[in-house]
Amino acid sequence: MARVDENELLANERLDLAQLRALQLDRLKQSLRHTWNGNLAYRRKCEAAGVTPDDLVALEDLSRFPFVGKADLRECYPFGFFALPIEEVSRVHASSGTTGKPTVVGYTEQDIVTWSGLVARSIHAAGGRPGMKVHVAYGYGLFTGGLGAHYGAEALGCTVIPMSGGQTEKQIQMIQDFQPDIIMVTPSYMLTLIDEMKARGIDPAQTSLKTGIFGAEPWTDAMRREIERSAGLRAVDIYGLSEVMGPGVAQEYAHTQDGPTIWEDHFYPEIIDPDTGEVLPDGEEGELVFTSLTKQAMPIIRYRTRDITRLLPGSVGPMRRMAKITGRSDDMLIIRGVNVFPSQIEEQILKVPVLAPHFQIEINRPGRLDVVMLHVEPRARVDEAQQQAAVVELAHHIKTMIGISTKIRMCKPGSIARFEGKAARVIDNRSRA
Ligand code: DLL
Repeated sequence: MARVDENELLANERLDLAQLRALQLDRLKQSLRHTWNGNLAYRRKCEAAGVTPDDLVALEDLSRFPFVGKADLRECYPFGFFALPIEEVSRVHASSGTTGKPTVVGYTEQDIVTWSGLVARSIHAAGGRPGMKVHVAYGYGLFTGGLGAHYGAEALGCTVIPMSGGQTEKQIQMIQDFQPDIIMVTPSYMLTLIDEMKARGIDPAQTSLKTGIFGAEPWTDAMRREIERSAGLRAVDIYGLSEVMGPGVAQEYAHTQDGPTIWEDHFYPEIIDPDTGEVLPDGEEGELVFTSLTKQAMPIIRYRTRDITRLLPGSVGPMRRMAKITGRSDDMLIIRGVNVFPSQIEEQILKVPVLAPHFQIEINRPGRLDVVMLHVEPRARVDEAQQQAAVVELAHHIKTMIGISTKIRMCKPGSIARFEGKAARVIDNRSRA
């Protein structure tokens, strides 16, 4: 990927609000028209809803258009949701999802340039500059994380270390030998790397790393503090999803650390009530919906992300921010009628100083009621009495803050699963019962 001029990368961050809205409207009209012309499946949905691209006069009119979900993409598997013939598509990626066929996404050459530019802008917002070394430990392949980060870092003019996920020992050797400034990795794999360093007698706070650009899964501010403290770096949040593009849909600025700024010149966000589909005002919590404004191969209109968050006013410029994602509606656990996200449990665990940041939530239904077993680990050098006190303290925090009763199992240090990509923290045995 050729290096992109820095001014060009950052130009749209300097638009004022009126300029931004005008650009969005102009792009939205084009994107809707392009989708209508090229994607028969979406056009049929519009026809069924009685709308055509001519009905979009103002940005608010978008709310009249039909939503798209993962199921729509799966129905047209593999390439039926593309708006251009496959010959014009220069790359595909796919998201595995938990069930069924993967969703496939496509990019033209220009889409790759746009995407790389947005990841470059994201790395810049995170404090990255041309000439810095970027260690990429997101997986390379069908997943958008590795290649997305890679092209973006190159576009910014950084030196990329394309490590991909896995091979934990080698990751650490490369970090020690190549002295990267930045690491791009899931927060859970960062924890694994930190543990492995400690196991080898390396102080994770003494590496060359100054910045971590973490995303691809929910992580709490408590986890941010944990990683910053133990790895001695500044941790910022990168958000994205394959159906909308990949990493770099939104990025947190390092100097504000106040939630990811959505790159609104390319993606128009809405928050909806997940039950009624009604658009909610900024500030209210609901499901995040995105419309792409510049994509060619697979433009997407009103994609329901299932991510639960709020839109917040811009802090660096007029582009809005999103609050840290509480979780995906798919990951929400309903325990005896109480809605619980794994991130809420994470927050409580990290409040107990003697507990390590690793955990798994196991749910069983031996009779009629759900029983939650939380597997946790002590940090090194914690004695038996401290461990027992920690169990009591954690159960109390969870009961009072979240409202559910849990059984807590203190596991041997190092025995809870570690992850090389996205974490799988929930073992739900109820469906199998
Ligand atoms: O995870 C793209 C990505 C790669 C983003 C690397 C950031 C870094 P998917 O595999 O399609 O794409 O998964 C997208 O992951 O809908 C969210 O539920 C979750 N997610 C991604 N970033 C964040 C984040 C990539 N920063 C799904 N915070 C999304 C919370 C995130 N959840």
